[in-house]
Amino acid sequence: MIIVKTEQEIDAMREPCAIVRDTLAYVGSLVRPGVTTQELDEAAEGYIRSRGAIPSCLGYCGYPASICASVNEEVVHGIPGPRILREGDIVSIDLCAYKNGFHGDGARTFAVGSIDAEKQKLLRVTEECFFKGVENLRAGTPLYDIGAAVQKHAEENGFSVVREYVGHGIGHEMHEDPSVPNYGKRGTGVRLRAGTVLCVEPMILAGDRHVRVLADGWTAVTQDKRPAAHYENTLVVREGGIEILTL
Ligand code: MF3
Ligand code: CO
Repeated sequence: MIIVKTEQEIDAMREPCAIVRDTLAYVGSLVRPGVTTQELDEAAEGYIRSRGAIPSCLGYCGYPASICASVNEEVVHGIPGPRILREGDIVSIDLCAYKNGFHGDGARTFAVGSIDAEKQKLLRVTEECFFKGVENLRAGTPLYDIGAAVQKHAEENGFSVVREYVGHGIGHEMHEDPSVPNYGKRGTGVRLRAGTVLCVEPMILAGDRHVRVLADGWTAVTQDKRPAAHYENTLVVREGGIEILTL
């Protein structure tokens, strides 16, 4: 069941979403060759708590960290640890903050130093996929129009879209209805109502669409070991368009 938010509830969501936005920018400023993903996690946790929020991921279904840090062929849910980022890597940072009784959620993929042309294109296209996905989104839009636009842009650029991981509604819970796939058929799915709050999060793969989960039970990697990128915002569906809360 999709829980449509009141204007008052949306106002309460602004702060956790702003904290997500600012934490992503802060973590991004720390990304450089030589830093470990654990250092990024500690910095993010400290920053989120300094703003009076709670890192929602920590302890979620037993997840052991405050952020997900997924490097190169890791698609999502990479667990921070002693891995040292090296020049030429890309790292996807996904994090949530809980405050005022609500969650905010966002993700960005950062370059570590200078990266090759394929990774540059992947980062650009992944971000473009988000904006293509929400370009025509407004009250009344069929849900799967989002994924159809994301998939079209990814595939036109020679990339592919993960099927196993999707966007979602968000509110009092980090994951609410509906699921928001990054693929689908235009004109299908429930018509979204004004006040629906969604996380739209393209996860785009340079190679083919197949992924597997590592023995840690969390980290999803591409089977062909080619790189992946992730870009996510929390947004409100409005009568005439959208309002992005994490930008
Ligand atoms: N932030 C992720 C999302 O976009 C969820 C992370 S799963 C967790 O849905 F276990 F790490 F929290
Ligand atoms: Co999300």
